[in-house]
This record gives sequence, C-alpha cells and structure tokens, in this order.
Amino acid sequence: MSAVDLPKAPLETGRRGVSAYRVMALAGDGVGPEIVAAAQRVLAAVAERYEFTLAYQEGLIGGRAIDELGLPMEDGLAERCRTCDAVLLGAVGGPKWDTTDPAKPRPEQGLLGMRKGLELFANLRPVKSFAALAATSTIKPEVIAGVDIVVVRELTGGVYFGKSERVGDTAYDTMLYTDAECDRLLDYAFRLAAQRRGLVHSVDKANVLESSRLWRAAALRAGPARSGGGGGGARPPAPRRPDVELRHMLVDNCAMQLIREPRQFDVIATENLFGDILSDEAAMLTGSIGMLPSASVGAGGVSLYEPIHGSAPDIAGRGIVNPCATILSAAMMLDLSLGEAAAARAVEAAVEAALAAGARTADIAAAGEPVLTTDEMTDRVIAAL
Ligand code: IPM
Ligand code: MG
Repeated sequence: MSAVDLPKAPLETGRRGVSAYRVMALAGDGVGPEIVAAAQRVLAAVAERYEFTLAYQEGLIGGRAIDELGLPMEDGLAERCRTCDAVLLGAVGGPKWDTTDPAKPRPEQGLLGMRKGLELFANLRPVKSFAALAATSTIKPEVIAGVDIVVVRELTGGVYFGKSERVGDTAYDTMLYTDAECDRLLDYAFRLAAQRRGLVHSVDKANVLESSRLWRAAALRAGPARSGGGGGGARPPAPRRPDVELRHMLVDNCAMQLIREPRQFDVIATENLFGDILSDEAAMLTGSIGMLPSASVGAGGVSLYEPIHGSAPDIAGRGIVNPCATILSAAMMLDLSLGEAAAARAVEAAVEAALAAGARTADIAAAGEPVLTTDEMTDRVIAAL
C-alpha cells in the first residue's frame, strides 16, 4: 500500500513536501453531486495557486449504490479509500429509499459502514459564527457574536452500532460503550482543547444512563476533576491533562445552554447520538446548517470530510444548495489530511470574504437580499481566493 497508510495521529497534519494528493470523492445522493462538484472547483483554484495537484477517484455510496448494486456502498470501498490521502463526501439518503422495513438496505448504512470501516472514531464539527450572517440566524445577533465551538462527536460507537432488533411489535437499540472507546474520544477532545481555550464540556446523561456514567468516569480520567463530578463509583486516577478545564453537563441542559449562552463553550465532547443532535442545533448559531463542515478522523490512515447537513432532496438538482459547508469541509481536508494549512486558511478566508461582500444562497439570504445559485456562490468564493 502507499505511504499514506503510515499511521497518522489525530491532529497531526498530513505529509509535507508532497504536492500530488489523491482524494476519494463520494458524491452520494440528493444535493451531494452538486456540493462535491462545487468544492472540487474551489480546490482546483486553490491547488493552482498553492502549487499542488489533486487526483480524484470516485465511488458509489448511499441510495445510488442501492439502485445500481443493491448495496448501501460498493464492495471494497473502504479499502479503496485507505489508498487515498482523504475522502470528500457529499451526502446520502432520500425519500426514495426511506423504508420502515428492517430487511431493506438504507443509504445511511453506507455512511455508517464507511465510518466504521475507516475507524473514524472522532467527528469534529466546528461551529463558528460568521459576522456577515449575524442577522441570518433565528437567534439574536448579540447571543451568537463570537461563538467558536468544536463539537467532538464519538462516531463509531453508541446506539448507532449497538445491537438492535425488531421482533413483532417490539424493537430495541442498544447504547453500548467500552472504556477504550470513551478514553480515545475524550483524550482527543482534551488534546484539541489544549490547543484552543482549554475547556472541555463532557456532555452525557449520567443521571439516567449507565453508558453515560462510564463516559463520565472516562472524562475524569482524561482531565482534571472539578468538585461534584461524580465518577461512576471508582475513584479517578490522576488526570492526564491538568491544563484543560473539565465541566460535566447533562445533554438536556446542554441543548438549552447552546441557545441561552453559546459562548460558554469551547470543546464539547459527547457520544454519537447526542453529538448528532447537538451539532444540528449548534449549526443554527452560524445562521444555517448549510454553513457547517465536519472532519471525521481516526487513529491513523485516511480521514473523511463532509458537510453536516444531509442530502436535501427537496432542493436537489435545482442548483440552489449552499456549497459553503462542503467547501469548508474541503478546507479542513487541506489542513488536517494534506498538510496544506495555508491553502486551507485561504479557502476559509475566501468564504468569509464572499459572505462579507454580500454573497448569499437562499438559505442565508435575508428578505430582499439577492439570492445566488450554487455555481454563482462558488464563483464568488473562487473570485475571493
Ligand atoms: C450526520 C447525519 C448522519 C448521522 C445520518 C445521515 C446517518 O445526520 O452525519 O449527522 O446521523 O450521523
Ligand atoms: Mg446529523
């Protein structure tokens, strides 16, 4: 296999001094092909300026894979991804494949299979308010000004991957976690917080769920305990990260605090399902879910970059989807997987500059503002590069 298969610690940037990168582009369903194409146009422009090249491979995942192959992703796709430097994904799913029949394949199984197959245990969702979009959010501008949060969502465990079954009129899903799964996620969150403002909110439901008490004990192992933490019985050993402050927060309270006073958060570390829900909520702090990128990273090998929004079947194929979340995901890819930090900053700055100059897709346009298509928005970002 290639040099990319060298184990890469999370947070470490990619290989330096290499100017030809291989990227797996997985367009998926709905607006997926439109947003991936938009991100590829921005990447082509920034690659030219920063003198590197990108070669793409393509793969089938989601509903398209179900239509063409009867499977939620093509065989061997994760292995093919591992031979690339990074994976850029659009979105999967749509009403065409919605079913309540447990025997039928679902597009989402492709995405979950990819996350599991590539061992992408940490999903990073940066939530930053854009000054230009302060009036776009449904939340008051003075509440969201200056918000800068990273949600670190556990991505390969919990209820998404526990045993689940439907038997007659009964169904269950299992939220299962091991110490090791909690430890590696929380360790990652603490290392990230140490590079930022030094605060981790570990979010759980420890007042009800046993898996949350296991999680809380792991948080206490990873960082310094504050009084009243409650470590699930066992006394925690000495904290590994005394330089980072740890606060525990129950997930229902966190959902409320994100809207009440979002600036109190720096890094939010939480399990899979809580992170899924909280990050959609947090997206509204930026003005639109169409703005939020994400990176899914693992213990080594290849990482995956995708917008946090879905396939938006209601607007698919109309050329009006906001490409910013995918363009910003591509910027995260440049930074974390390709080691092209300067190019990443340039893309982020270009998105911000385009917004500041009034470029708006429908989802972020205030009443009366001119609305751009996906292509026009992409052109404005490229022009700002
Ligand atoms: C996300 C999405 C996925 C998830 C779906 C499409 C399976 O909502 O990435 O947040 O629940 O993880
Ligand atoms: Mg989600």
